[in-house]
Amino acid sequence: MTRVAILISGGGSNMLRLVEAMQAEGFATPVLVAANDPTARGLGLASALGVPVASVDHRPFGKDRAAFEAALLEPLLAARPDILCLAGFMRVLTPGFVRRFEGRMLNIHPSLLPKYPGLHTHQRAIDAGDAEAGCTVHEVTAELDAGPILGQARVPVLPGDTADTLAARVLMQEHRLYPAVLRRFVAGDRAPVFLP
Ligand code: GAR
Repeated sequence: MTRVAILISGGGSNMLRLVEAMQAEGFATPVLVAANDPTARGLGLASALGVPVASVDHRPFGKDRAAFEAALLEPLLAARPDILCLAGFMRVLTPGFVRRFEGRMLNIHPSLLPKYPGLHTHQRAIDAGDAEAGCTVHEVTAELDAGPILGQARVPVLPGDTADTLAARVLMQEHRLYPAVLRRFVAGDRAPVFLP
């Protein structure tokens, strides 16, 4: 059975959808949910579903990303994941970490990549006057938010949208998209899926 670990930083709603899909459909086993913030709400949610959890606070490591990652790798490697899913994980990873999981690390990003890598995606879409926004699941490579696209879902940008209202609309699509992509990825299908 394919083993999946998930990294989160906060609420963990995407993580929850991934775990629920794996547990309901049995296409993979969630072996660990780990966070860089010990107070991340998602840790409790994962625990409640019976998934092992770990946290490594990034703050004591300051700017030393490699040292933070070395500490994170301890519980992560012990869980022996085949696939690593970033789900609202807000730390930039070093090329060394990315290389270790090359070809088997996914991320969900709240924009229609290649538009708006990085932060503040919803405000940037509104400011640009875009008629559509959305989300992307992609393979993680050393370049931020630039790996091969595995799936996208689109939503309209509506008159009067704020970053918050648009984010909420996009998040609902993230919850459909990420499980759909993971299910296919586990089956070896890397052709991008575009949800209507
Ligand atoms: C999601 O919208 C996700 O796309 C975004 O953070 C949110 C996490 O929500 N990720 C990024 O911006 C990554 N750069 P969640 O914790 O409820 O899944």
